[in-house]
Amino acid sequence: MADGAPLLDVSGLTRYFDVSKPWLNRVLEREQRQFLTAVADASFSIKRGETFALVGESGSGKSTIAKMIVGLLTPSAGEIRFDGQPLRFDQGRISRTLRRRFQMIFQDPFASLNPRWRVGDIIAEPIRTFGLASGPAVTAEARRLLDVVGLSATDINKFPHEFSGGQRQRIAIARALSSKPEFIVCDEPTSALDVSVQAQILNLMRDLQDEFGLTYLLISHDLSVVRHMANRIGVLYLGRLVEQADAKRLFTDPQHPYSRMLLDAVPDLALSGRRRQPVTGEIPNPIDPPPGCAFHPRCPHVMEVCRRELPAPRETATGAAACHLLTTA
Ligand SMILES: Nc1ncnc2c1ncn2[C@@H]1O[C@H](COP(=O)(O)OP(=O)(O)O)[C@@H](O)[C@H]1O
Ligand SMILES: [Mg+2]
Repeated sequence: MADGAPLLDVSGLTRYFDVSKPWLNRVLEREQRQFLTAVADASFSIKRGETFALVGESGSGKSTIAKMIVGLLTPSAGEIRFDGQPLRFDQGRISRTLRRRFQMIFQDPFASLNPRWRVGDIIAEPIRTFGLASGPAVTAEARRLLDVVGLSATDINKFPHEFSGGQRQRIAIARALSSKPEFIVCDEPTSALDVSVQAQILNLMRDLQDEFGLTYLLISHDLSVVRHMANRIGVLYLGRLVEQADAKRLFTDPQHPYSRMLLDAVPDLALSGRRRQPVTGEIPNPIDPPPGCAFHPRCPHVMEVCRRELPAPRETATGAAACHLLTTA
């Protein structure tokens, strides 16, 4: 399935936000401004045909990474390569030929679909933008895509509000598919849906992956969603990737205490033979992160070094983890 060079390669990706009070911006020197580090030095790559999942609690930087990859946000530092070509942000726009090849699905399909447009026009827009068809062929393609995502071709003249949440997400998926992409970033694609509907959408995503050879970046705070979808997983904590591993391995043998804490919080996933550790404490304020390892105030294994030094990523069986325990063990 997956072979050769990665389809997506992210290295040293970093994004700061200026969070000084707006009226102060004009009078403050740059050094005095307050910056929040939403994503720090993130590196990972995704092979063609794979699903790479990014997990982490709310505020860990998942959506910021997603938006940089699809060009909605400019990185502060680092590089994103798609099929070997660096995405350039200098003109604020990514080349159209490259842009057609990746799409994004958002958490809230109601917010991401224009309520005043008919479904046919919503799906047709990327087809026209990228010049993939013209005239009656556009409508025919929109009908075909509705069928592909399990809706009816006659839905083409309806408006988004006439559909349920799950159906709206199907429309968003049809729209994403309309530019014939190879890669889709799915940011919490089922978080806004009822549990019963979640599985249907995830199954659809998997079927489409097989049918069209799609590569996914799946973002979720929910490990039970990720478990059935991902080949590889990256765990984010306060903007940093603390662990990366093959999915099976992460669920059976997590190396970072934070990964273990996340797993233990999900009853069905809790590792057998180990006492469950509840998720304790709260994510620190990213404007003023703890020194050393940002996880140290919540870590059950905290050592002196953790309060001082940022742990470097160490190689593990199927990836890497950034924890001083792996160095001192
Ligand atoms: N436009 C922005 N301006 C200032 N801070 C932001 C902005 N977007 C995100 N952040 C901050 O960056 C951090 C990461 O946010 P986000 O990427 O949305 O996390 P997640 O998707 O994992 O919940 C959070 O602390 C959030 O408040
Ligand atoms: Mg988010």
